[in-house]
Amino acid sequence: MTFQKRLAGDAALCEARLLAALATRADQPVTDAMRYALRGGKRLRGFLVLEGARIHGVAEAHAVSAAAAIEALHAYSLVHDDLPCMDDDDLRRGQPTVHRTWDEATAVLAGDALQTLAFELLCDPALGSAEVRMTLVAGLAAASGIDGMVLGQALDIAAETAGRSLTLEEITTLQAGKTGALIGFAAGAGAVIAGADPAPLRRYAAALGLAFQIADDILDVTGDEAKTGKRLHKDAEAGKATFVSLLGLDRARARAAELVREAEAALAGYGNGAVNLIAAARFVIARDS
Ligand code: IPE
Ligand code: IPE
Ligand code: MG
Ligand code: MG
Ligand code: MG
Repeated sequence: MTFQKRLAGDAALCEARLLAALATRADQPVTDAMRYALRGGKRLRGFLVLEGARIHGVAEAHAVSAAAAIEALHAYSLVHDDLPCMDDDDLRRGQPTVHRTWDEATAVLAGDALQTLAFELLCDPALGSAEVRMTLVAGLAAASGIDGMVLGQALDIAAETAGRSLTLEEITTLQAGKTGALIGFAAGAGAVIAGADPAPLRRYAAALGLAFQIADDILDVTGDEAKTGKRLHKDAEAGKATFVSLLGLDRARARAAELVREAEAALAGYGNGAVNLIAAARFVIARDS
């Protein structure tokens, strides 16, 4: 099966699991806003969970709640990232942002509830023993909180007002937090479910996550809004610290390509089993959305 078919198939599995989790929930605006925020997206993080599970012999049905969990957590991070007090965006995944469609309070609450939904999904007994589920819960908490995504987002916002450009090391730390940590959790989750060593997949993800954010920063400069489904040309305007602002487009592209080679090298031990993960790494820097 080609990578694109895999990605689409895994997206449908994530979608179904997320909608099932919300099916019995209170009928009120926050629930509607959660469903709305979960719509669309590439579902790359969900794919990483399911592919990481498959290469360890774990069937999709046993891993899909973890794939849905990371997509719920990611959707929360986007809802809050778009708020007026953060990046102040009015378009996401090709539709008006949650705070534009409802209001800021509903967007904050929908984000909060998507975050807790992620942890609820990780408690699904289908994922394995209590110990496995506890490892997943602790892993997602570390990746999303003040050691991970929240730290990266805080550094991103602080850099906007710092009035000086960051060093390469500082930008790497910022991006490893805001984007890399959740991608790292996603890539390692399948191995955790299988009771295998997640270290090689985490090494893959460390390089992949950075390449992914560099591609996001490049798309902000060179992309097409009709394809990305979000406003572009905003990073420079807002004074964001990115690899592109520091290195320029050509060197940022070269760095992303180098990181993809590093990501592929980390998969050497999986042999042919890693073809889809290799394709995912190439997709990450070639994508237009
Ligand atoms: C966008 O992530 C936010 C970043 C971390 C750069 P994605 O590009 O994965 O967004 P969706 O899920 O496909 O909408
Ligand atoms: C967002 O990074 C990262 C998180 C949501 C954690 P960006 O601010 O660059 O993402 P986009 O460009 O709005 O998707
Ligand atoms: Mg942001
Ligand atoms: Mg943003
Ligand atoms: Mg961006």
